[in-house]
Amino acid sequence: MNHSEQLKDVLAEGCIIRRLEDDIYSALPDLPHKHLYDRRAAAYDSVVSTWLYNRLMWGTSPLDYVAFAREAVVSHPAGRMVDAGCGSMLFTAQVYLASHRQVIAFDQSLQMLKRARARLIRLGGSVPERILLLQADLSNLVFRPGRFDTLLCMNVLHQFAGAAELIPKLSGLLVDGGQLYLTSLVSNGRYIGDRWLGTLYRTGEFVRPRSGVELRNLLEDTLGEEVSYRMKGNMAFATAGC
Ligand SMILES: C[S@@+](CC[C@H](N)C(=O)[O-])C[C@H]1O[C@@H](n2cnc3c(N)ncnc32)[C@H](O)[C@@H]1O
Repeated sequence: MNHSEQLKDVLAEGCIIRRLEDDIYSALPDLPHKHLYDRRAAAYDSVVSTWLYNRLMWGTSPLDYVAFAREAVVSHPAGRMVDAGCGSMLFTAQVYLASHRQVIAFDQSLQMLKRARARLIRLGGSVPERILLLQADLSNLVFRPGRFDTLLCMNVLHQFAGAAELIPKLSGLLVDGGQLYLTSLVSNGRYIGDRWLGTLYRTGEFVRPRSGVELRNLLEDTLGEEVSYRMKGNMAFATAGC
């Protein structure tokens, strides 16, 4: 399936998509956009890719995110998946390239999408037709309901104030029996991580930190009791069948 066929099948009626550059499309209005991550795309990749940063600040490892993404990808043999807030595909590019699934990966930051494209080309030689990079806003989802078998939203919720409204909208994108995979930083009494989360909140990078219990309750209230939830350091990993 080529890119326009893929989009035709998943986009909500009336939604207009523009081709921005090779392999990158946009669902945003044709106006100058500068998003937070446009300025820090390179810094994100060089810092957040490191074992030291993740170990020290969050008590995790980059391998945890890669493993979680792989879990999402192998959760269905062939169905279409969506990566909400895909960023530069720091932890997912390799996993997507190794699978045969159709992936619609969206993010509002064009610079992050360009880095995702460069990573796919570097690792795989090209952007496969089955992977589509889309500039789009989580606050204004452009997809029809029930079009995806798997949704991955990794490391985004701690930047999103309206999580209680967003989570049911994300789960609405899934087919019956589809799987939702979410991660988020939370406060949980781990001194360094909690302090760093507070600093990132005060500087406007993150929204008010949610506690691990608060996020779990939020997920269970919106998705039901069938949420599988675990924490490693300051990172919550949640999976739910919808
Ligand atoms: C911390 S990065 C995580 C990126 C990637 N999922 C990862 O794990 O490396 C957060 C991403 O969410 C994106 N983002 C934040 N708010 C968004 C919104 N309203 N719509 C779409 N993307 C958004 C940012 O541009 C950024 O790329």
